[in-house]
Amino acid sequence: MLINNWYVAAWSHEVTRGQPRQVRMLGFDFVLFRDGQGRAVCLSDVCVHRGASLGRGVVANGCVACPYHGWQFDGTGNCVLIPSLGEGASIPRRVRVDSYPTLERYGWVWCFLGDLPEAERPAIPELFPEYDDPAGWARVPYHFDAKANWMRFEENSLDTAHVNFVHRQFGSRRNPKLEATPIEHREYGAKVSRVKPAPAPDQKTGELGKLLAGDRKSTQVELEFSVIGLCHRIQPTFREGMSQINFTARTPVDPQLSRAFGWQARNYLKEPQHDAERIAAIELAVREDLSVVEHVQPPLTPPSLSDEFLVETDSMEVAFRKACARWAGRGNEIDQEALQRERHNHVFAIPSPARREDPKNWVHRPVPLRPTASHG
Ligand code: FES
Ligand SMILES: [Fe+2]
Repeated sequence: MLINNWYVAAWSHEVTRGQPRQVRMLGFDFVLFRDGQGRAVCLSDVCVHRGASLGRGVVANGCVACPYHGWQFDGTGNCVLIPSLGEGASIPRRVRVDSYPTLERYGWVWCFLGDLPEAERPAIPELFPEYDDPAGWARVPYHFDAKANWMRFEENSLDTAHVNFVHRQFGSRRNPKLEATPIEHREYGAKVSRVKPAPAPDQKTGELGKLLAGDRKSTQVELEFSVIGLCHRIQPTFREGMSQINFTARTPVDPQLSRAFGWQARNYLKEPQHDAERIAAIELAVREDLSVVEHVQPPLTPPSLSDEFLVETDSMEVAFRKACARWAGRGNEIDQEALQRERHNHVFAIPSPARREDPKNWVHRPVPLRPTASHG
């Protein structure tokens, strides 16, 4: 799993001034709440006093108060009150937890889990501008967990060939051959545009099925991903001017569990009474994907491409693996073996930007990282 990246931690409406919210990302626990100004805060969840979970505490005066002895931590992660020492007692600098940069976009709270200073932080990609055009694009949200590794699951979304075998409503088993289409490489991802044979007319049901009845031959599908933000956009155009977009951000909860936050936007059947049909179609597609992805072996994407027999229609999945490897090679990959060896005795935290400025005054240790690749 990769640090120094933006991850979606929660829906914006789930993060409040009233109640802390504990979330797990990259195998670590975090607490989310809103400070006195209403800004979303993300702190490492483990209290530096004696290890209680801050997410089980309460929010008071824009700070989170630990449930064990009431120590209060503000939005910067600094402890501002140790009740047993009394108000006004001096609090050493070391009494702090990591605080991670946050921003809100697409109705989600994104957290930057890493220590890069602001000037070096890559931006969240603008892959879903239609979010800002709700009149032109009706949308429904989706959210689900998968008992699958984040790379395995993301590869499934980027995989065009599986559609014809896994998905009842939009696969085309009668013509599964894909055209070999060149992919465009982007700074942190890739994009491809493919024409795929339309499914048989009786595969699509409901109101969308009625709209698409007739002799439609093909669907144009555009697919783009970014490792930064760990998100992708899939846009089928069913016929000219009639299209939908699935924009999904993926959060690794731990190596075996992934979470997806998403929106499906459409520029047809925009009235809210059509939302239910769209949600049902998304839920069916997710069930179909999970029936395969939760059972692949090995559970983690193998380290070498030659450990599997890949073909040219796997090009986007390969581009994704390479983009991940490049980010990992810059010293951003958690060393799981080293972490597991030490974790039962020590608390580790993903380093936050404040550690760069002052690496010494911390109670919890920075997570061990794999070495920087010498090339690539
Ligand atoms: S463990 Fe948090 S205040 Fe004691
Ligand atoms: Fe799928």
